[in-house]
Amino acid sequence: MFLSHLSLTHFRNYRHLELDFARRLTLLQGPNAQGKTNLLEALYFLATSKPVHAQTEREVVDWQATQEPIPYSRLTAMVQGHAAGQGRALELEILLTPRGDGLNYTKQVRINGVNKRSLDLIGLLRAVLFLPEDVKLVDGSPGERRRYLDIALCQIDPVYCRTLAAYQKVLAQRNSLLKQLREEGARPGVPATEAQLGFWDEQLVQHGSVVVARRHNFLSEIAPVAQARDAELSGGQETLAVEFLPSFNYGPWRDVEYELWQEGQLLGDLRWPWGETVSAEEVAPHFGARLEERRARELAAGATLYGPHRDDMRFLSNGRDLRSFGSRGQQRSAALSLKLAEVQVMTAGDGVAPLLLLDDVMSELDAQRRSTLLKTLEGVSQAVITTTDWEDFAPEFRREAQCLHVCAGTIAPAGDAALV
Ligand SMILES: Nc1ncnc2c1ncn2[C@@H]1O[C@H](COP(=O)(O)OP(=O)(O)OP(=O)(O)O)[C@@H](O)[C@H]1O
Ligand SMILES: [Mg+2]
Repeated sequence: MFLSHLSLTHFRNYRHLELDFARRLTLLQGPNAQGKTNLLEALYFLATSKPVHAQTEREVVDWQATQEPIPYSRLTAMVQGHAAGQGRALELEILLTPRGDGLNYTKQVRINGVNKRSLDLIGLLRAVLFLPEDVKLVDGSPGERRRYLDIALCQIDPVYCRTLAAYQKVLAQRNSLLKQLREEGARPGVPATEAQLGFWDEQLVQHGSVVVARRHNFLSEIAPVAQARDAELSGGQETLAVEFLPSFNYGPWRDVEYELWQEGQLLGDLRWPWGETVSAEEVAPHFGARLEERRARELAAGATLYGPHRDDMRFLSNGRDLRSFGSRGQQRSAALSLKLAEVQVMTAGDGVAPLLLLDDVMSELDAQRRSTLLKTLEGVSQAVITTTDWEDFAPEFRREAQCLHVCAGTIAPAGDAALV
């Protein structure tokens, strides 16, 4: 897959941008606050149909545009060589226009000029994005890690994406029922209560088990690759383990053992308890049984306590949890290794290599890690990389790359500035 062109109108600080991508590597240099991150955000928005930082779509519309009679924001990308394009180029487009309320924006998605749903866009411009704040993957909340899994999986697996959406709908319904039952003082075992919950349990288990199994299989595929990347980055100093922590036990362990392992109390003694792959059919009976066993608890909480919305994952280096014991650089390397591994796993899946987007990646990396990263980039099919300093990249690397300079939302070829 190759991204050949990006066009932006009123997207953040880009009034109007037409940018051709001519080479495998694009290096975008500029001082702080000129639009480096904004450019990667635009590409990732087109890949995932969700803005990265912004809470609302309104935030990404250029402030100046809001003074115009009809403010809008438009992003388009030309993508070559994607399987879905059957040899033709795909034109992907997102258009944001204001709603009547003057506060929110409507998002319209078009593919080759035809209106489509947001879901149809995901996976066409495949991208893996690494931002400085991605250390949050390691030391942030479980929600960050689930978001990571969802975005990664949705791009490569449309079934996952649809099932996740279905799961979330069922979860919301089941939660409101549990809340209502709590207010009514309902008790477990009462036939009426069981009948009401039973209906939602079945659907929760059906969709939830698919989500859990696919997360499990994705992590067991990506973990050894991330370990290899991290070993290279650290010059063999670190052994990274990435572990999936599902919210209920579906392995051969006793529940008490699983809970201790989940809490990190059995690290080193008991390894990853399950086989490499698991099917939704294997997960489902455990999920169903857990819901039945914990009826009283869920009724008291008025919420669903088990399922993929409570999954987590953990990063260990040399057997120690990086969340509590990792240095900032170690955490950053672990997150970066995971993203680099994702590029490899995505490509291996169906041969469609994603676009790698690296924001300010060199900062906080030591010399060993920097030079290994540059070597790793030799094998990547397309990357867009931002930096404040040309010197962060070796002269040979700069000669090979398309070097661009960004200043206040305007991008121009860097010329000799990049080569001296
Ligand atoms: N909706 C918007 N409309 C106009 N400008 C915006 C909008 N949102 C953000 N900006 C501006 O875009 C500018 C550039 O932001 P960006 O994060 O891309 O900088 P950067 O080049 O990555 O800088 P740094 O090196 O500090 O990371 C910021 O100064 C910000 O004020
Ligand atoms: Mg930035």
